[in-house]
Amino acid sequence: MKKQEIKINYTEFSSLNELEKPYRELIEAARKAAKKAYSPYSQFNVGAAVRLSSGKTVTGNNQENSSYPSGLCAERVALFYAHAQYPDQPIDCIAISAFKNGILVKETIKPCGGCRQVIAEIEYLFKDPITILLDGQNSILLFEGINQLLPFSFGKNH
Ligand code: THU
Repeated sequence: MKKQEIKINYTEFSSLNELEKPYRELIEAARKAAKKAYSPYSQFNVGAAVRLSSGKTVTGNNQENSSYPSGLCAERVALFYAHAQYPDQPIDCIAISAFKNGILVKETIKPCGGCRQVIAEIEYLFKDPITILLDGQNSILLFEGINQLLPFSFGKNH
């Protein structure tokens, strides 16, 4: 028997000003997208902004439904839309911002398991890590690749 350990790395920024301009702009796009979320049941507005390898930005937000499981997270709305419109383009980065009752969350939210799996699928497809930016008042977190959020993931190779 051997106990194993894995390490997860991420970078923490204390404000938007510490980020390079392209990351800053992507977070601003995610914040803007959150404002248009359809979230009458949770009042929790989430926005996601995806940067394609061409430099194009695609956004999405959470879409809720009176039949709760029929709704979808902001991340998957943005990722599926991006991949539906530009199926040949790798995705470089995704930024995620969330607002509770109109106020940016203090601590960043972390994408749910289903959304992590979808990020992983796109990474595997293009063999290209996706940078994940999580936005909050207290800090902004940057993960270089889904492996930092979803180690031991199930993928095409299985
Ligand atoms: N939600 C997202 O859109 N992204 C996340 O990462 C977590 C949760 C949405 C789903 C639902 O509409 C609302 O937030 C409350 O869970």
